[in-house]
Amino acid sequence: MRSWLNCRTIVPPDGLAEAYRHENVDANSWLYPKQVLAHWVDDHRTIDIPEQIRDAYRRVGRPTPLTRARGLERALGVAWRIFLKREDLLPNGSFKICSAIPQAFYGAAEGRREVVTETGAGQTGAAAALACQLFGLAATVFMVRSSFDAKPLRRRLMEFYGATVHPSPSDVTAFGRHQLATGNSSGSIAIATSEVFEVLRGGGGMNIAGSLLDFTLTYNSLLGLETIVQLGVEGIRSEVVVGCVGGGSSFGGFAIPFVEQDDDVEVIAVESDAIPTLTRGEYRFDHPDGGGQAPPMRMYTLGYDFRPPAMHASGLRYHAASPIVSYLVRAGRVRAVAHAEADALAAGRLLARTEGIVVAPEASYVVREVVERVQREPRRSGTIVGVLTGAGALDLDAYGEDPSA
Ligand SMILES: Cc1ncc(COP(=O)(O)O)c(C=O)c1O
Repeated sequence: MRSWLNCRTIVPPDGLAEAYRHENVDANSWLYPKQVLAHWVDDHRTIDIPEQIRDAYRRVGRPTPLTRARGLERALGVAWRIFLKREDLLPNGSFKICSAIPQAFYGAAEGRREVVTETGAGQTGAAAALACQLFGLAATVFMVRSSFDAKPLRRRLMEFYGATVHPSPSDVTAFGRHQLATGNSSGSIAIATSEVFEVLRGGGGMNIAGSLLDFTLTYNSLLGLETIVQLGVEGIRSEVVVGCVGGGSSFGGFAIPFVEQDDDVEVIAVESDAIPTLTRGEYRFDHPDGGGQAPPMRMYTLGYDFRPPAMHASGLRYHAASPIVSYLVRAGRVRAVAHAEADALAAGRLLARTEGIVVAPEASYVVREVVERVQREPRRSGTIVGVLTGAGALDLDAYGEDPSA
C-alpha cells in the first residue's frame, strides 16, 4: 500500500469540533513528533507512506492475511461467507504495530531518543517496544496494573523487545502514588496515560499514541484498505463489516475505508457492556486522560473519571471513543452494539474449535457479533468481514474452563 486514508476526511467539515484538533495539537506538541502532528491537521484525502515505513511494514508481516472461515460457517449452518482479517498473526500480537511504526519512525527521524507510553493488556506496549527496536529508540511502558498482574507473559514480551515496564498506578509518579493511596490499585488506560504525561513533562521523550487520536485511525487505515484489495482479488464486496472499540483506532482504521467507498455497507462497532461508551455514553466534550489534564474533545464518553471494572478484554477498558468514530455513530452511519464478556469469550472458544484461531479477548467480541449477525438471517448468502485485532495465546487464562467441555 502506497498511502494511508486520512480517516478524518470521512467527517464533513462541520462534523468535528475543529477547535479540539488545533487545541490538542498545540497542547501535545511536546508529546508527538512534528510530522505526526502535521498529519493530525492534514486535510488531504490520502497521505503518502514513506518507503522506510513501507519496508518496516513488510518486515513485520504486512499485509496481514484475510481468511475465509469455512469451519465457522459450517458449524453455524449459515449461507454467509465469513472473512476474518488476521491482525492476530503479527509478531507483537496485534494491529497496534500499524500505527506504532510510523510514530516511532517520525520520532527517530527528528532525533527523539526515548518513548514513554501506556498500555492496557500490553498490546500497545508490545507494539511500541517492537517499533522502538526497529528504529533504535528506548521504550518505557506503563501497563495497567490488573493486566500487569494477570498477563505476565505479555509484560515479558515487551521486556524481550527491550522495554522497561511499570505497573500503573505506579510509585514512579505523583499521580500514580495518589491513586494507590486512595485505594485504586487495578488501574485503567486513562490513569496510565496521566502517568505517562507526568514522566514526559520531565522532558525529552515522546509518546506513541495507542488509540483515540485521529492519526492513529489514519495509520490503521491499512486494515481496511488491505481487506478491500484482498476481497477485490476474489471479486467480492462485503455487505457487513464488524470491529471492536476500545478507543476506536482499529475499528476506525478498518471500517472507514469501507464507509468511504460504499454507502450501503452495514457497519457494526462492538463494545463491552461493562464499558458501554457508544451505546450508553453521552456525546459531549470530555478529557481523554484520567487526570483531566488534556484538552477536551467531543466524543461519546462515560466521563473521564469513570473507573472501568477489571475485565479480560482490558483493551476495551476506556471511558471514551475516538471523535471520528463517535461522529459516525452519532450520524447513524455506524451501529454500536455491546456484548457481555462471557458471551464474547464463548465465541472465542467456538472460533478456536472451528478454525484453530486463538484470538485476544477483545477480538472475541468481534467474533460474537459476527455470529449473532449471521444467525439473524441464516439463509442470506451475504459476505461479512470481521477484524481479529489480536492474538490470544498469551491470554489463554482469560478463557478459563470451557463450560461445554
Ligand atoms: C487486541 C486488541 N483489540 C482491540 C483493542 C481496542 O483497540 P482500540 O483502542 O483501537 O479500539 C485493543 C486495545 O488495546 C487490543 O489490544
